[in-house]
Amino acid sequence: MKAVGYRHSLPIDHAESLLDLDLPRPEPDGRDLLVRVKAVSVNPVDFKVRLRAEPPAGEVKVLGFDASGIVEAVGPDCTLFKVGDAVWYAGDIRRPGTNAEFHLVDERIVGRKPASLDFAVAAALPLTTITAWELLFDRLEVKRQGGADASLLVIGGAGGVGSILIQLARRLTRLTVIATASRPESRDWCLKLGAHHVVNHTDEMAGAIKALDAAPVRYVAALTHTDRHWRAIAEIVAPQGKVALIDDPEPIDVRLLKQKSVSLHWELMFTRSMFETADMAAQGRLLGEAADLIDRGELVSTAAESLGTINAENLKRAHALLESGRTIGKITLAGF
Ligand SMILES: NC(=O)c1ccc[n+]([C@@H]2O[C@H](COP(=O)([O-])OP(=O)(O)OC[C@H]3O[C@@H](n4cnc5c(N)ncnc54)[C@H](OP(=O)(O)O)[C@@H]3O)[C@@H](O)[C@H]2O)c1
Repeated sequence: MKAVGYRHSLPIDHAESLLDLDLPRPEPDGRDLLVRVKAVSVNPVDFKVRLRAEPPAGEVKVLGFDASGIVEAVGPDCTLFKVGDAVWYAGDIRRPGTNAEFHLVDERIVGRKPASLDFAVAAALPLTTITAWELLFDRLEVKRQGGADASLLVIGGAGGVGSILIQLARRLTRLTVIATASRPESRDWCLKLGAHHVVNHTDEMAGAIKALDAAPVRYVAALTHTDRHWRAIAEIVAPQGKVALIDDPEPIDVRLLKQKSVSLHWELMFTRSMFETADMAAQGRLLGEAADLIDRGELVSTAAESLGTINAENLKRAHALLESGRTIGKITLAGF
């Protein structure tokens, strides 16, 4: 089968940073589905792993987490899906990735693909939707249709995670959503997705948020560059509020949160699959619920740019764009 991977951790402009490969097709066992991958999207985790995880000598590593596709075969213990089902999912960081024609994934972290989206537009969403959903409901513990008296600050609103978090907060809670964006196009994107307000993260955010006269910021989703914004976050967050982190910040001083008794919450969307937690099927269920919301027109895809077929050349372009930190929404690729 066709696949894209790497042998050495190299800068993206190196000729061998990503390679077109021909690999054996895997066979499903246990609760694994074998999925014929139709489309993928690219996330910052793809380039972070490429740069940090050198495969053992002589081996290749296939990247890719987000996928949409069709179930080609099922393991003997599968009960949730059957051959021919259209699915979407974000995979397991311990396993070979979705940049391959055929891919194995545990059925508990898979959802049915929204019927109203084509494969590429659907592939934009699973990883960021799981992240945003778990952050909002499992970590910050916002109640459905709750939060009428509070604001949620989304730092990095136009990024992949911010783009779906803004929508989930608007459709499923009564929070006031304050997103951050630094350019006219990223600001417009956040407003289009439903943010009530947008402030510029390159300006002094605390003063700008105070001037909005919005409900107190009881919840902060620090999605990117958290170390740079840390002092501002501690200043903005309301007493007894909650801050959730998802990125890889330089060390931050958590003592800044003590005076306000603010709690800190990590979200890593790979935790459930990595530790095979007893509740790992919650990810499959939330993907199913998100698919229903999309098919009812309550959420929209965050796909912003399509870079063509899934091959090393196009994936290199995708990695380079993501490494710039300036993308809006998600980049997708479809077909091999
Ligand atoms: N823990 C998890 O489970 C998990 C899951 C997904 C992602 N992540 C991590 O979360 C981070 C965000 O992911 P993502 O997919 O949303 O990223 P992304 O799509 O690459 O984010 C791009 C956005 O970041 C904004 N940005 C750039 N510099 C910024 C700054 N200094 N302050 C605030 N915003 C800034 C840009 O907005 P402007 O152009 O408006 O500045 C741009 O639209 C990454 O580090 C990723 O690895 C973690």
